[in-house]
Amino acid sequence: MSKKYKIGVLPGDGVGPEIIREGLKVLEVACKKTDVKYELVNYDFGGNRYLKTGEILPDSAIPEFRKLDAIYLGAIGHPDVKAGILEKGLLLRTRFELDQYINLRPVVLYPGVYTPIKGKEPKDINFVVVRENTEGAYSGTGGVFKKGTEDEMATQLDINTYKGVERCVRYAFELTKKRNAKKSLTLVDKANVLTYSGDLWQRVFYKMGEKYPDIKKDHAFVDATCMWFVKNPEWFDVIVTNNLFGDIITDLAAVVQGGLGVAAGGNINPEGVSMFEPIHGSAPKYTGKNVINPIATIAAGAMMMDVLGKTKTAELIDNSIKNILASGKIKSMDAGKMGFSTSEVGDLIAKGI
Ligand code: IPM
Ligand code: MN
Repeated sequence: MSKKYKIGVLPGDGVGPEIIREGLKVLEVACKKTDVKYELVNYDFGGNRYLKTGEILPDSAIPEFRKLDAIYLGAIGHPDVKAGILEKGLLLRTRFELDQYINLRPVVLYPGVYTPIKGKEPKDINFVVVRENTEGAYSGTGGVFKKGTEDEMATQLDINTYKGVERCVRYAFELTKKRNAKKSLTLVDKANVLTYSGDLWQRVFYKMGEKYPDIKKDHAFVDATCMWFVKNPEWFDVIVTNNLFGDIITDLAAVVQGGLGVAAGGNINPEGVSMFEPIHGSAPKYTGKNVINPIATIAAGAMMMDVLGKTKTAELIDNSIKNILASGKIKSMDAGKMGFSTSEVGDLIAKGI
């Protein structure tokens, strides 16, 4: 008997439920076609529940998540909840407690999608960012002293552990090998200023690189990387970087690939439970309007199948996305400008399968 996957579904806030609905619609068709069986476990965690009950995640949540095969997340962020509460209490807590130490963000310009970068085509924009996902400036360490006075002092520590850096860099080398594309891995840091952490990353990177003689070891400072993304995105194959730099450069990268409407990401624990999401937020102003682009979420569903080892299912979804985009039917990747509603885009991709 084939395995039945247990997938946790967290639609979350804002447009989250609308995009997850389309993601599940497409997943159902692709899984039926490829004989992949799954059951869904729904969770109502997010801003509304927090406002009603004062609880972000009940104590039972993380142990329950551990029993799942994967988590499919819509978006987190509510206009009536102070920024940081849900992000830290739900999204980051899940990433940390499930030790999802890789944030994998492919940056691919699909044929038929408009990029604001003049003169660049799909062949020029096809790389992956491997973002460390459990430490760095996101560690939550540091503190505040003499708050509210003229002498107030705040620290926010950037934690880089040898183990954390090493497992992230190893994942990136292995991915570069597996992709078998340009065979180039670029370490992105700010080692000209952040010399302690920069030194740790570089030592790990070049030492491990000796085990991968066929892979070109490249390096770029994070500020320059932003410039290269715009000027020469074709230079990149795989990028490895810390949590904060990875967060920042992937918003820029998303625009390079046609906008947040198409950018998907995976929070991956290669030995445990991973979580998949669009990289955009909850876009509260579009809530319930059926105008948001569901493609990033649908692509995140494909990524989930790929990481679960269901490559055929993942390919079916990806190919359908590609075909619909290449057809030029969808006029823009931006909310409200697609020429179709959220559910119509979901229908098109589901039918394409
Ligand atoms: C992302 C988001 C999150 C992050 C926020 C919502 C905490 O921006 O997934 O990129 O900073 O990691
Ligand atoms: Mn971000």
